[in-house]
Amino acid sequence: MTYNGKRILLGVSGGIAAYKAAELARRLVAAGAKVKVVMTKAAQEFVTPMTFQALTGEKVAAAMFGPGSEPLEHVALGQATDAIVLAPATANLLGKMAAGIGDDLLTTILLAATKPILVCPAMNCEMWVHPAVQENVARLQARGLTVLPPAAGELACGATGYGRLPEPETILEALAKLVSHQDLAGRRVLVTAGPTHEDLDPVRFLTNRSSGKQGYALAKVAWRRGAQVCLVSGPTLLPAPHGVERVDIWSAREMLDAVLARFPESEALLMAAAVGDYHPTSRSEHKMKRGSQELTVHLTQNPDILKKVATLKKKQVVVGFAAETRDLEVAARQKLEDKGLDLIVANAVNRADSGFAVDTNEVTIIGRRNLVVRLPLLSKEEVAARVLDQVAALLPPREGGGG
Ligand code: C5P
Repeated sequence: MTYNGKRILLGVSGGIAAYKAAELARRLVAAGAKVKVVMTKAAQEFVTPMTFQALTGEKVAAAMFGPGSEPLEHVALGQATDAIVLAPATANLLGKMAAGIGDDLLTTILLAATKPILVCPAMNCEMWVHPAVQENVARLQARGLTVLPPAAGELACGATGYGRLPEPETILEALAKLVSHQDLAGRRVLVTAGPTHEDLDPVRFLTNRSSGKQGYALAKVAWRRGAQVCLVSGPTLLPAPHGVERVDIWSAREMLDAVLARFPESEALLMAAAVGDYHPTSRSEHKMKRGSQELTVHLTQNPDILKKVATLKKKQVVVGFAAETRDLEVAARQKLEDKGLDLIVANAVNRADSGFAVDTNEVTIIGRRNLVVRLPLLSKEEVAARVLDQVAALLPPREGGGG
């Protein structure tokens, strides 16, 4: 889990979205984080400290002075943590931060903080577009803070527009980057995922059982580790991962065009998609009618995307995936050679808990020079992390001297 043992300081300021911070705290704890909540005075008008204390198992810090306050909390709390998230951050809190004011516990902690800060503003849509608020946001970003812009929708005040606190899932993803090692910082990573659809007629197509989960996990984890990720996705039901550019395609031939267009500027390609090997030779313009007892469909082979990519390959690290039901490693090694790959991830798809549609996968990573990494059954995110470890080790040093 991304947050296993990570210390997160959750700062809650006084907007109506403060109630949503309770769910965020719960989700962080469920993801393995150790959460300490700091509330402003106004936040306590919306939710009580007891709610957060019950959810996090930690005493809530809420006052600089008076009973229950600790003398040096205003310095220690922003330093003895892995990251800080401010959700919701009101216009008032943004203003004080931008101006360097420390007139309560939370704002003083933020002045002394040495750890990465994620700011999640939430307010009325007119307040959000006010030039003063926008200037404050720009100042915070210029100082290196990460600002997750509010989402659009219906607001508590009845208005509709930008101002809503993003869903806990989105905040968790944005924050995951702040607590991840940035070993892929700035790297351009191209990932393919999902099945392809090969049309027979306007309503029918040939496809396969790929859900896209492994490819989406690769895109998500690469982004968290600092990469600029483009995800070329076949039709799936999955939401676009936070921070990732998603390009939707339908067929293998569309996937080929999308990959070839982006491959030259990429530094790594992870071809996790289950690309259809054939498409119907002709696509009927109208819905095919039920006719004779038997129907013969002629199929034409699709281009092998990885083989086409091999002819354009310069310094890129190219990773293929081999879903097999037998002779897993032998077949995978053969594909590594045939398709000119740097790595191949072999996975058995004849078990219920590995391969298509499920959240776990058991894979072996095979590379050149006898590299063989046999992994146990892991979540698809953990598999993604292990595959990206191998990719990171193969990437040439960055131009301009960076590591
Ligand atoms: O040969 P096979 O389809 O088993 O190889 C799987 C690998 O090749 C996967 O990485 C898949 O994305 C890729 N592939 C491809 N073009 C195809 C079929 C598969 O790039 N037409």
